[in-house]
Amino acid sequence: MFIRSLLQVAALIPFLTSTTSAQTACNNSPSLCSRAYNNMTHLGAHDSPFLRDKSTSFSTSGNQYYNSTVQLDAGVRLLSAQVHKNSSASGSDKWRLCHSTCELLDAGSLTNWLKEIKAWMDADANKNEVVTVLIVNSDDASAADIGAQFASSGIDSYAYTPPSTTVPKTWPTLQSLINNGTRLMTFVASLSETSSQYPYLMDEFTYIFENDFENESPSNYTCTPNRPSGLTTSSTGGRMFLMNHFLYSTALFGIQQPNSTYVNVTNAETGLGALGTQLDNCTSVYGQAPQFVLVDFFNVGPAIASVDQANGVSSATGRKSVTTAQPDENATGADDSAAGRRGASLVAVVVAVVVAVAFGL
Ligand SMILES: *[C@@H]1O[C@H](CO)[C@@H](O)[C@H](O)[C@H]1NC(C)=O
Ligand SMILES: *[C@@H]1O[C@H](CO)[C@@H](O)[C@H](O)[C@H]1NC(C)=O
Ligand SMILES: *[C@@H]1O[C@H](CO)[C@@H](O)[C@H](O)[C@H]1NC(C)=O
Ligand SMILES: *[C@@H]1O[C@H](CO)[C@@H](O)[C@H](O)[C@H]1NC(C)=O
Ligand SMILES: *[C@@H]1O[C@H](CO)[C@@H](O)[C@H](O)[C@H]1NC(C)=O
Ligand SMILES: *[C@@H]1O[C@H](CO)[C@@H](O)[C@H](O)[C@H]1NC(C)=O
Ligand SMILES: *[C@@H]1O[C@H](CO)[C@@H](O)[C@H](O)[C@H]1NC(C)=O
Ligand SMILES: *[C@@H]1O[C@H](CO)[C@@H](O)[C@H](O)[C@H]1NC(C)=O
Ligand SMILES: *[C@@H]1O[C@H](CO)[C@@H](O)[C@H](O)[C@H]1NC(C)=O
Repeated sequence: MFIRSLLQVAALIPFLTSTTSAQTACNNSPSLCSRAYNNMTHLGAHDSPFLRDKSTSFSTSGNQYYNSTVQLDAGVRLLSAQVHKNSSASGSDKWRLCHSTCELLDAGSLTNWLKEIKAWMDADANKNEVVTVLIVNSDDASAADIGAQFASSGIDSYAYTPPSTTVPKTWPTLQSLINNGTRLMTFVASLSETSSQYPYLMDEFTYIFENDFENESPSNYTCTPNRPSGLTTSSTGGRMFLMNHFLYSTALFGIQQPNSTYVNVTNAETGLGALGTQLDNCTSVYGQAPQFVLVDFFNVGPAIASVDQANGVSSATGRKSVTTAQPDENATGADDSAAGRRGASLVAVVVAVVVAVAFGL
């Protein structure tokens, strides 16, 4: 009797094993493995490396409270960043992640940031994760300039190359990207020319359209195509939809900053101007959920809840949770000179504006 039970259990082992491997998650859920890359919603961190934390003295220009690694750990799968040129620097220091200007907020070199993302993708726990990087090409870098940074960081070893430079009928499934070792999708806004040396750098607006990102009112979000120009809701040329969903407020000297006081509603599932509400609105406009949503302060809401809802994911696996609270810059931990540093960053902003005005930027 005992032996027979044992044999029965033994007979089940291969079955159990195969069940387990069939349940391996892709982008935090087994149900997403068979989804085409463009048949799901990816959570994006707007201006991913621009932090409002101790490292920037809680810069009001910062768009995120936690760094790119923490973002990825928590389920963010698209990271955007602006790339600016420092003409007086050379090598990999030339291409920097800066917020509007490098005087305002300089988050280091593009190469170092790509290394950080690569290190995350390298980890055993993250081998089934498909990540998208969106480079905002603020100073018109060529594909060769950007490609050289991808190559020197080593992250190019993961890069997916599209079969052609026109919109594909279908995109690969997450599982086939994972199987092929091409788990990195790279879009650049914009590239004047693609490069045969760096064919994985995809011109964003060839493949993706966006709604307007300039918005200061929770009532003023729209689903209408804004970039590239010339599209309508009924003619988007098969492009994927990146739904910008963040709120600006205008501060001193007309400088736009992320509106952090309302973000707990902006990133919530319901409410006036909530991410969940706007996802539903745009899903009904296009008959399909947006492929990407881009948010500020991703941990608040949490924004991932609306994305899980859109993807039909109810029990995500392999994420590290991060608080939905907004860090209190005045709490213990921030050092005593916090007020002084805020003063210093205001001076930096004023200097940056004066410089920008003087040079007609
Ligand atoms: C998208 O995914 C859903 C859910 O798995 C599936 O029912 C649907 O057929 C897919 N659509 C396309 C066009 O592949
Ligand atoms: C990201 O933030 C975490 C938590 O604050 C920290 O431990 C880690 O060192 C940071 N990583 C990078 C690459 O800055
Ligand atoms: C540009 O690079 C030069 C040379 O490395 C450096 O001295 C300068 O601080 C950099 N400027 C900015 C705005 O980062
Ligand atoms: C995977 O790689 C093979 C061989 O290079 C290629 O034929 C196939 O199109 C690739 N699949 C995807 C989804 O990229
Ligand atoms: C919102 O849109 C309305 C109508 O277009 C406009 O009048 C208003 O100024 C906008 N509000 C903000 C804060 O931009
Ligand atoms: C989004 O949907 C809500 C609820 O249906 C509606 O009140 C709101 O006007 C819609 N917003 C836009 C911009 O369509
Ligand atoms: C942020 O947006 C909310 C809702 O529109 C508004 O009440 C608040 O004044 C804004 N905050 C700032 C700093 O502009
Ligand atoms: C957002 O934060 C404000 C201020 O702390 C609070 O009054 C409000 O209830 C919060 N709303 C949500 C949806 O969490
Ligand atoms: C931190 O302190 C400053 C100066 O006292 C105050 O203006 C600000 O509102 C405080 N911030 C928070 C999040 O409490």
